[in-house]
Amino acid sequence: MRISVIGCGYLGAVHAAAMADLGHTVVGVDVDEVKIAALSQARAPFFEPGLPEVLASAMASGRLRFTTDFAAVADADVHFVAVGTPQSSDGDAADLRFVDAAFESLLEQVSPGDVIVGKSTVPVGTASRLAGLVAQRVPGATLVWNPEFLREGFAVQDTVSPDRLVYGVPAGEAGVRAARILDEVYASAVGAGTPVIVTDYATAELVKVAANAFLATKISFINAMAEIAEVTGADVTRLADAIGHDARIGRRFLNAGVGFGGGCLPKDIRAFSARARELGRGESVRFLDEVDQINLRRRQRVVDLVREESGHLDGVKVAVLGLAFKPHSDDIRDSPALDIALRLADNGAIVTATDPEANPNTRKRAPHLTLVDTAADAVIDADIVILITEWPEFTALNPHEVGDLVSHKIIIDGRNALDPETWQTAGWRYRGLGR
Ligand code: UDX
Repeated sequence: MRISVIGCGYLGAVHAAAMADLGHTVVGVDVDEVKIAALSQARAPFFEPGLPEVLASAMASGRLRFTTDFAAVADADVHFVAVGTPQSSDGDAADLRFVDAAFESLLEQVSPGDVIVGKSTVPVGTASRLAGLVAQRVPGATLVWNPEFLREGFAVQDTVSPDRLVYGVPAGEAGVRAARILDEVYASAVGAGTPVIVTDYATAELVKVAANAFLATKISFINAMAEIAEVTGADVTRLADAIGHDARIGRRFLNAGVGFGGGCLPKDIRAFSARARELGRGESVRFLDEVDQINLRRRQRVVDLVREESGHLDGVKVAVLGLAFKPHSDDIRDSPALDIALRLADNGAIVTATDPEANPNTRKRAPHLTLVDTAADAVIDADIVILITEWPEFTALNPHEVGDLVSHKIIIDGRNALDPETWQTAGWRYRGLGR
């Protein structure tokens, strides 16, 4: 099929490359010339495992190209909108400026019969508003809302083999036809038996935010248990193992630590609360404000632990291992690790931080933070070592070797990713979160 993808960020670039790799002819469009220049040379503009390979093979096939020229989308029949919906600068709501701008430009090029597929995470009600715009501007074109659930670090795999496909379609024949076309786009996943849920716009929009709200709640639930464990001497990791054996609960997303960050969960739960308030249903998701608060408290807990261990923060040498919001990513958006590093530095600690992939992004965002290339460099003469992003190279550190480099053998394990006994046996004072 002939496909266009509007917006070539984490979502759109992966989507465009994956669709071309599956055999479709794809053009990716973005207003960011730097991004388009990189992608046009088959270079991924951000770190995402597997993306360079898929980009290279799709570009070599001749089925994939990138451009800043919107006119190029006119040749396509199916148009994916994959632009960002960040948190507004003045509140919790989602900023829909990029979505609206994308539709404005796209509708100039769309023909009757084309299918427009929204993938961006939007407040419920947006698709129906945009469908009105489409009907007015290009009668005969159809809008579908098709949320994505990809995880950074597994974005290629999640795009090619998703857990489920959700199509929010209009009622009637147009919706049936659009769903059939999307089945063709996703033929390989559909053929492999991926569940397809065809529903209305509002449900499709809500599926996405409900899924993220549930995941965020699960993480904050276990972090709330960590807070209780801290005052009772219980071990939240053993607690999670034990309750996780109940199949109704499940062990995944029950890892206590510094909590969730990234470009999705934090802003999505805030936008959901804001939208619910607009709809007069603020009380229905008021618990999400608590989920957010629990999550943010865990960052301060790490700062408090450093103060507890040293008596003060001023002049304390802290090695921060990890800056990305999670391993296998260079993304520092709303990263607990970066937030903690900055809180420590703002309060007088001498912070030396490192991340295998996120140093360049951090340098741009926080040029005053001292960054080094490796964990071995970061820990030299440290009074306290904090592990915040559980990269394999950090969790595999040898406590004896690290012990030879530091001033004081104190480690705070912000992800409960280390074996306390191994570190304690090597002479370290170990502090986890909730254990
Ligand atoms: C998330 C959703 O998982 C994905 O379905 C959606 O499309 C986008 O948002 P992502 O932001 O890539 O994906 O990260 P995810 O793997 O969900 O992790 C989010 C955050 O939660 C990370 O900071 C991670 O460290 C943290 N986390 C995760 C925990 O603190 N504990 C856990 O048990 C799991």
